Amino acid sequence: MLKTVFLLSLVLGAFAAPTTEGLTGRSTGLDVKISIAKGLLKSPTDGRVVLMFAPEGIDPLDDTDVDSSPNKIFGKNVYDFSSKSAVIFSGGSNSGTATGIYGWPDVSMTSITPGTYRVQAFLTRYEKVTRSDGSKVNVHFPCGDGQPNVDGFGSLTTTAVDVAVHGGAQTIELTFTDIEPVEAFTGKEIGGCNQGNYAETEYLKRIKIRSKKLSKFWGRDMYLGANIVLPFGYNAKDTRKRYPVIYSQGHWPAGAGPLGYPNNAVFKAAWDKGIIPATNTTAERPAPKLIMVSFRHESPLYDDSYAVNTANLGPYGDAINDELIPVIESTFNIIRAPYARVQEGGSTGGWESIASVIFRPDLFGVCFSSYPDSLDFHRHQDIELYTAKNAYTRADGSSVPSIRTHTNGVEVVLATVAQENHWELTFGTSTRSANQWDVWNAVYGIQGYNNYPLEPWDKVTGEIYPEVVEAWKPMDLSNYVVSNWNNKRNLGKALAGRIYIYVGSWDNYYLNEGVMEFQKRTDAVGGVGWANVTILANQTHGGNYQRRATWDYLEFVQKWVQDHSPSGPHPISSKATSPSGRGNEWDEVIARGGHKAALARQAPPLIDVRGNAKLGKEIKASVGRWDPGVTLEAQWIISDDKIGKPFAVKQGEVLKFKPNKKGSMRLFITGSKLNYDTETRKSSTVVVKG
Ligand SMILES: *[C@@H]1O[C@H](CO)[C@@H](O)[C@H](O)[C@H]1NC(C)=O
Ligand SMILES: *[C@@H]1O[C@H](CO)[C@@H](O)[C@H](O)[C@H]1NC(C)=O
Ligand SMILES: *[C@@H]1O[C@H](CO)[C@@H](O)[C@H](O)[C@H]1NC(C)=O
Repeated sequence: MLKTVFLLSLVLGAFAAPTTEGLTGRSTGLDVKISIAKGLLKSPTDGRVVLMFAPEGIDPLDDTDVDSSPNKIFGKNVYDFSSKSAVIFSGGSNSGTATGIYGWPDVSMTSITPGTYRVQAFLTRYEKVTRSDGSKVNVHFPCGDGQPNVDGFGSLTTTAVDVAVHGGAQTIELTFTDIEPVEAFTGKEIGGCNQGNYAETEYLKRIKIRSKKLSKFWGRDMYLGANIVLPFGYNAKDTRKRYPVIYSQGHWPAGAGPLGYPNNAVFKAAWDKGIIPATNTTAERPAPKLIMVSFRHESPLYDDSYAVNTANLGPYGDAINDELIPVIESTFNIIRAPYARVQEGGSTGGWESIASVIFRPDLFGVCFSSYPDSLDFHRHQDIELYTAKNAYTRADGSSVPSIRTHTNGVEVVLATVAQENHWELTFGTSTRSANQWDVWNAVYGIQGYNNYPLEPWDKVTGEIYPEVVEAWKPMDLSNYVVSNWNNKRNLGKALAGRIYIYVGSWDNYYLNEGVMEFQKRTDAVGGVGWANVTILANQTHGGNYQRRATWDYLEFVQKWVQDHSPSGPHPISSKATSPSGRGNEWDEVIARGGHKAALARQAPPLIDVRGNAKLGKEIKASVGRWDPGVTLEAQWIISDDKIGKPFAVKQGEVLKFKPNKKGSMRLFITGSKLNYDTETRKSSTVVVKG
């Protein structure tokens, strides 16, 4: 979606320029050297360079999907990058470190076979921020495009060129000559391009606010937007005529409201007239009178925020529920009572809608959650997260699948968890790829000692860290509901009859598995049907709740609201919507998962001796405490001399050592982890006497 192509860029652009040397010395294979055209940037930038090789003559952006892209994709982080420097893609250890390159689906640049390719590079720019809990991160703040994983607004791009790769030593030179323009504004909303800026029509209105809570957390202005679809006959001045509201959750909606409004022209035409058209089996009738709202909450790590409070993304739950919704509801004539607030959505939106009701039973009445993201981490998609040792490979050696389809009733796997995670690593390290597995790690998890989300498994090997999985439990929704069943939150009673879930048994992402686990665990405490779960045989991922047609669905929702209103047959009790049912409180979330907690988890090594140690007498020592996944190496030091060679140690290991020399003794432990700074921690000194 390159919007401007300057002729100049063809001159400055890339040509196959075979040379024998890269900047860093003699190269024997393919190198790509990428620089920034003079004057393109006002100041140096940090960011992620993504380099793509597509088949000759094919736009590299045509298809970058993990299950279908013909491209080879490489990524590398850059720091203080300017027209005075260049970045070189060469070799590729696939270590996934902050400085290395990561390639998909090949492991390195050397695996690009001779042939002609269309080559293009993109630079996503990062901004350094210090969050209110003291954590410092370097992330991309999207501005009205829903944070795509590559080529978002403001990205630098090179011109795509066909280049012959001939085998031997070769350096391809590319130059960033263009900046993806920010979509022109059409509306009058505050905050510039933040969360987009859209024009209003008779039935489609806009709200955008500057969120105080998010701005405080991120240390910069943060906005939230909403698209509001009003029913036929809506009269702003008639404040006595009030309507129920559907809060529809999901991915970046750009300017659209829920259920395809206004992009589905047939639906829009009928909605705007307030009349459901006749079919050959049903007569024409009035459309339900509801207000429908979609949210714009593109975030620094994804196209939305998952609409809850998280230590990695900040207080989005509070910002949406306590800042944005009150403005929506005081601007439009909405019934301000839980029974009239309906949460709905599919997939990401399915999880967000059920989480919203579970965490805020005081605010929302009901959710119609369709094919939600993993509700229970006994099955995170198809990963048995609580018991498996590896997220990519099962005990029997087979790969854990991630995307499937069914052909003539037979399951066909389109991508594995490993393929997807490795593909994500090309777009960003430290969970900054703006892709699915990374944002789950951010939302369900806590901050690591490196300030970025603490990953539940090694992104390269798939090795699971049980300690991190344990930290996900408050976001395991069935665990959360069951463990707050009859305490002060009283969720067993409060949520009964308010959770509706639909999924197909052939869900393309195996999300039916997590739904079934949720059902099993809540049924076990609440009796069969505590949550109303519909599993439709042989249905895939998609559609409205229970695959209902749009009008049928809206009438169904309207009936639920009527039935549960104060004058209906099944009013929601005030006990069920008591503020004591609230969960996912920000103070608790950040105290448990924020920067201070990450620091508190660390400890230096400790030599376990009171007073002095004795020559030749065994002593014990601990390696200290480190984040899971840190590889440790120990070195004994006496009087500044290294004793023996450094050796590998494990977290929690108790070291035994017989000092063989007099003097002052220390233990050094060096820890290294993907995307962490390698760090040496030193014990305090113990004197060895004869
Ligand atoms: C109703 O119309 C649809 C086409 O719009 C047709 O496929 C269907 O058979 C019709 N049903 C009846 C009962 O006539
Ligand atoms: C679902 O698919 C299976 C396998 O193709 C088939 O045996 C079964 O009849 C299907 N069920 C429904 C309800 O379509
Ligand atoms: C579950 O919800 C459906 C509507 O989606 C309804 O027809 C059914 O009666 C409900 N089941 C129970 C046990 O309440």
